Amino acid sequence: MKPIVPVALSAVAAACIAVAAVAVTRGAPAEAAKPTLAQRIEHGRHRVVTAGCHDCHTPLKMGDTGPEPDFSRALSGHPEGMELPPPPAPVGPWIVSAAATNTAWAGPWGVSFTANLTPDKETGTGTWTEEQFVQTIRTGRHLGRGRPVLPPMPIPMYKNFTDDELKDIFAYLQSLPPIHNRVPAPLPPAEAKM
Ligand code: HEC
Repeated sequence: MKPIVPVALSAVAAACIAVAAVAVTRGAPAEAAKPTLAQRIEHGRHRVVTAGCHDCHTPLKMGDTGPEPDFSRALSGHPEGMELPPPPAPVGPWIVSAAATNTAWAGPWGVSFTANLTPDKETGTGTWTEEQFVQTIRTGRHLGRGRPVLPPMPIPMYKNFTDDELKDIFAYLQSLPPIHNRVPAPLPPAEAKM
């Protein structure tokens, strides 16, 4: 009988040797090529759309099938000038409420308004450095050294991003069209009349 299997095996072995030869001639695996800015921006965009930044930083508007993100105001935060009455008093275990835009939140911390993440120099992140952005998320403090960033900004989860991931997110945010939108300062619990 013809030794079919050994022939097939030796063909595989020959292929392996060929591959190994190519690997040897190429030398040790080179360090991964540094991603281009365009690639980093794309990584950042992907993280922003999968980690839910739009959920809170892009105002919701009413669409045909219910609330949907208003991408004409993508990532520009709580809309300036939106009139808001005092939040409802918390009842029983219902201690948090959110405005219809999903950009203003009342809870035991007072009222917080989602930040303008677009690179507008006056009202957004246009003057932030990459390091200040990384440190804000890493430490949960404004610019890495200011006041604590309030809930519901998911700092406890996002601080687990790697530095490279955060830098890519920042590169993406800086590539967006700047939107001028001055977000109000948070209200402490007393002023929020909770
Ligand atoms: C569940 C809602 C929510 C989600 C999701 C969310 N944020 Fe926020 N974010 C907030 C709120 C609210 C604030 C304002 C907090 C404050 O004023 O202290 C904020 C503030 C910020 C700030 C400003 C901090 C400062 O010091 O000025 C940055 C930067 C930020 N968010 C980035 C992001 C990024 C990037 C993502 C996605 C990876 C994201 N946020 C997702 C709610 C959210």
